Amino acid sequence: MAIYTKKAQPTKNDLYETPTTTLDMILDHLDPKRHLIWEPFVGTGHSTRYIKSRGFSVTNGDHQDFFQQSLPEKDPEKDLVLISNPPFSVKRQILLRLTELGFHKIALLLRAHVLFTKYFQEYCSHHQVQVIPLSLHSFLSSSPSSRHQAVCPPGLYILFQ
Ligand SMILES: C[S@@+](CC[C@H](N)C(=O)[O-])C[C@H]1O[C@@H](n2cnc3c(N)ncnc32)[C@H](O)[C@@H]1O
Repeated sequence: MAIYTKKAQPTKNDLYETPTTTLDMILDHLDPKRHLIWEPFVGTGHSTRYIKSRGFSVTNGDHQDFFQQSLPEKDPEKDLVLISNPPFSVKRQILLRLTELGFHKIALLLRAHVLFTKYFQEYCSHHQVQVIPLSLHSFLSSSPSSRHQAVCPPGLYILFQ
């Protein structure tokens, strides 16, 4: 079972599986021979399985709880890139933790309103950030028995460098 810090407690509703077409938007620009994917928010393993099926090596980190993870070991042949649809309820803490680790090759799927938050604007003043809008955005239901799509407010992929 994952251990969560008090400040970074995710909510029950944080499991939303990422549609494969949304993952493709980033994976299409990467190369399995040159990139190692770090996907720390595994959930049911849906996104990890899909990324692997596209030929990429994936690490989920050295602890079930992202906040207890250290940076994955470097592969001299590959660049490490974090690709994730993170638990939205702790997105600010995730950015803070990645800053603490000094890691900035990140593609995070987030909701559009993040752009207007103080912490995001603060982050942008120190790092290069690219935003890819997703106008029609839907997640897969967390219940495998009823895989309906849950349409969300406009989302974004935010690429931090
Ligand atoms: C939005 S879902 C994404 C699931 C999956 N990666 C996908 O894209 O289909 C986020 C997942 O992160 C998990 N999670 C929440 N807090 C976490 C933490 N501190 N460490 C690791 N996983 C966490 C949630 O339980 C949830 O399953």
